[in-house]
Amino acid sequence: TKRIFSGVQPSGTPTIGNYIGAMKQFTELQNDFDAYYCVVNEHAITVAQDPAELRKNTRSLAALYIALGVDPEKATIFIQSQVPAHAQAAWMVQCLTPLGELERMTQFKDKSAKQGSVSAGLLTYPPLMVADIILYQTDLVPVGDDQKQHLELTRNFVERFNNRFTGKKEEGILTMPEFYAPKEGGRIMSLQDPLKKMSKSDENQKGFVSLLDDPKVIMKKIKSAVTDSSGEISYDKENKPGVSNLLTIYSSMSGRSIDDIVNEYADAGYGKFKQDLADVVISVLEPMQARYDKLMESSELDDILADGAKRANEVASETLAKMEKAIGFR
Ligand code: TYM
Repeated sequence: TKRIFSGVQPSGTPTIGNYIGAMKQFTELQNDFDAYYCVVNEHAITVAQDPAELRKNTRSLAALYIALGVDPEKATIFIQSQVPAHAQAAWMVQCLTPLGELERMTQFKDKSAKQGSVSAGLLTYPPLMVADIILYQTDLVPVGDDQKQHLELTRNFVERFNNRFTGKKEEGILTMPEFYAPKEGGRIMSLQDPLKKMSKSDENQKGFVSLLDDPKVIMKKIKSAVTDSSGEISYDKENKPGVSNLLTIYSSMSGRSIDDIVNEYADAGYGKFKQDLADVVISVLEPMQARYDKLMESSELDDILADGAKRANEVASETLAKMEKAIGFR
């Protein structure tokens, strides 16, 4: 069976953007693939994190994976720092990656422009992501559109590594991964500024719905989402980015097509549309939150994570050994 790998940073509670762009696919794909879902806490510390918050968010994110439908019997759920091979492989990847490739990454350029002083880790973050992916000999990586560039970097790395150390592209040491994003919903926009990506680290809390928001808060945030003054519900990303974003969210959360939703609301106003959208979002998140609360109280979660780390370590250390041998460490 083919492998999938994906990760989410425990740098806050995930938003419906993370869910639609990536996490929703985690449950859909786990039946057909050998799946590894990682809480990437090593990525989170590229920017300052409060230790207690990081600890809490890490455990909370693992619980959310399960609450939204990842089955620990089918998929391996684990915490990145509990598998040392990630940091070990990342060092080798860094040493085999030209600096220029990292300086070109949009996410680095964006984040470093916003901060006065940046850590070296912010620059070398993509090689750690490359390490995550290659260690599991991953075939498919379900992520949102903003990770496409990092996937390209990974693909370039795999080609370069295989070429250099085996001389043969086909019988390479590392598997070539593919990018996998939903047709719609790979880039969910902020509710307050539909030209900006929805982000869990947005200072304006009204810009996103978090997976753990209270139903009342969800209703409020969606009702105050920025739209336009035309009053007409139609899908037009260029001229109606706010409404189009809400239609995408509606469609992803309900499983209905955008056309179908546009037809239903042809004669309705934004008020009714937003109210129904909030109800749809709540209907997905409320039962998830109930499962989450239960998990956080139980010791079951710790057992799942211990087992996940064990399984992940087995696979990752096998690839790490191959890389070490190729490079001349063994
Ligand atoms: P992170 O934690 O920023 O986001 C987690 C996932 O959510 C997707 N995403 C979105 N999708 C749609 N609309 C949005 N507004 C939106 N915002 C975020 C992201 O694309 C991502 O799939 N570098 C990664 C984590 C990572 C990883 C990996 C992923 C580390 N190693 C290996 C895959 C494989 C990140 O920062 O995701």
